[in-house]
Amino acid sequence: MSYTIAIDGPAAAGKGTISKAVAAHFGFAHLDTGLLYRAVGACVLLGADPVEAAKSLTSEDLQGDNLRTPEVAQSASKVAVIGEVRAALIEFQRAFARRAGGAVLDGRDIGTVICPEAEAKLFVTASAEVRADRRFAELVQNGMDVSRDTVLADVVERDRRDRERAEAPLVAAQDAVEIDTSNLSIEEAVSRAIQVVEGRKNGI
Ligand code: DC
Repeated sequence: MSYTIAIDGPAAAGKGTISKAVAAHFGFAHLDTGLLYRAVGACVLLGADPVEAAKSLTSEDLQGDNLRTPEVAQSASKVAVIGEVRAALIEFQRAFARRAGGAVLDGRDIGTVICPEAEAKLFVTASAEVRADRRFAELVQNGMDVSRDTVLADVVERDRRDRERAEAPLVAAQDAVEIDTSNLSIEEAVSRAIQVVEGRKNGI
């Protein structure tokens, strides 16, 4: 039987960390759907056509540290506006969600468009300042030469584009439970997320 947990939210709110921990807790598989858009964005930076890149994407394209750069993130957010790119990536995500044994998918439109029937939905947020601080620390740790102000501007620009696009914009599903991680430790955010899923499983 399949069981799907949808985790959406803006950039660097803690979705990735929470999703991995929730998947590990329940023994579910995890898909970071941002990687699909990042892989397409990376191909576009190399001169590829976005729709063709999305149509020919394979699981191998989702590996690699080069997908984590701010340039690729911006490019991902830009290709994510294109309806044909989104359409080309839907079936891969839905097939993943239906896999036996349960799945956690994190992204922007999982609870609204990809898996509207997901058994549990979370919307993870944090203030733009907190998110920029976290992303900055992460990039510096990975040896990237960036300023905190650039990271903040980047996060704000990407959020605006993700929220304002016509297709599958970033918005909380009506039945999603919101978790604001601004003042939570990783442990607190993870245990809150697990609590919400347990609650759904028990019909609360
Ligand atoms: O989650 P992320 O930062 O890796 O995502 C990169 C970009 O990909 C994000 O700015 C918008 C796009 N994206 C999307 O449109 N829908 C998703 N489900 C996941 C990501």
